[in-house]
Amino acid sequence: MDLRLAGLALGMLALGGCGEPPAPRAAAGYVPDTVAFQVPSDSTMPPGLLGESIRRGRALLEHTADSLPEHVGNTLACTSCHPAAGTLAGGMPWVGVYGQFPQYRSRVARVQVIEDRIDDCFIRSMNGKPLPRGGKDVRDMVAYFAFLSRDIPVGARVEGQGIPKVDVSNADTSAGKALYAVECARCHGADGGGYVGPALWGDSSFNIGAGMARLRTAAGFIRANMPMDRRGSMTDQQSADLAAYLVSRPRPDLPGKEYDWPNGDPPPDVAYPTLAAQQKR
Ligand code: HEC
Ligand code: HEC
Repeated sequence: MDLRLAGLALGMLALGGCGEPPAPRAAAGYVPDTVAFQVPSDSTMPPGLLGESIRRGRALLEHTADSLPEHVGNTLACTSCHPAAGTLAGGMPWVGVYGQFPQYRSRVARVQVIEDRIDDCFIRSMNGKPLPRGGKDVRDMVAYFAFLSRDIPVGARVEGQGIPKVDVSNADTSAGKALYAVECARCHGADGGGYVGPALWGDSSFNIGAGMARLRTAAGFIRANMPMDRRGSMTDQQSADLAAYLVSRPRPDLPGKEYDWPNGDPPPDVAYPTLAAQQKR
């Protein structure tokens, strides 16, 4: 290459090619920027056995209690909390999640692969038992997760991932109870045991070790997703009040929960004492 041309090319690189200084890659820790939420259409599913695996994985996630009764101790489906098969922004979507594992998680103080994360939701959110590692069921679920993340760069955050943050500092349980009767009981039952919608508390619901049993998680989920037929209609305060009522209700226990967050760094809204945090004090 001609020297002057090489110099010009270098100059353009330094300018990012369009007059902007290049983005500071090192500061971002080599993680690609946040990308737009996008769900691949079913018509782009691969043919053959891979496509069959993806579809079967989605069906298991949508009918978990019925399809895998040995592994589910309540009446929920995975999609009870990851609505629309994990394709709703603000609804803890599975879009992009595949490329975010392996991931360090403080609850277990270990690096987890995505199968470990699935196990956690079986044990806690489904109040059940993990699937045999390497079996067809978990492979099909992972195949669906990978399909949903097809167009997302590895490691990228996706807009609408997780749930919104809600201020829970003034959450009022009795206001939540009153609001529950008006806004939620018609689908979840006056006793929280489920009706059109899944069980929110009691023996048929998630256990105390589930993320949804935490005040902030429940508030953020409700803020973005409930009532299901009027998503986003609750204010931050109403969502916090409803969450406070929800987490005050009885639900199955999780033996061994005191060993969570072994480095003594539980989030402030965990509903039970952990040993490592007590020893740290
Ligand atoms: C009772 C509610 C609930 C149910 C049911 C549930 N999950 Fe989850 N799931 C959660 C919560 C809460 C999180 C954490 C979300 C966050 O950190 O933003 C989560 C996170 C995940 C993640 C990681 C997502 C991310 O953004 O990092 C995966 C994968 C997952 N769940 C799979 C499953 C599978 C598979 C099932 C069924 C076996 C299931 N979940 C059932 C509540 C639930
Ligand atoms: C129109 C019916 C409907 C109404 C009203 C409704 N929900 Fe739901 N809810 C659902 C359905 C259905 C799901 C499961 C998601 C799915 O299947 O797509 C769900 C899921 C949930 C979940 C996660 C799953 C679980 O079992 O914990 C919570 C928490 C929740 N709703 C809370 C509420 C609260 C609080 C209200 C009142 C503000 C409310 N819902 C109002 C239908 C409803």
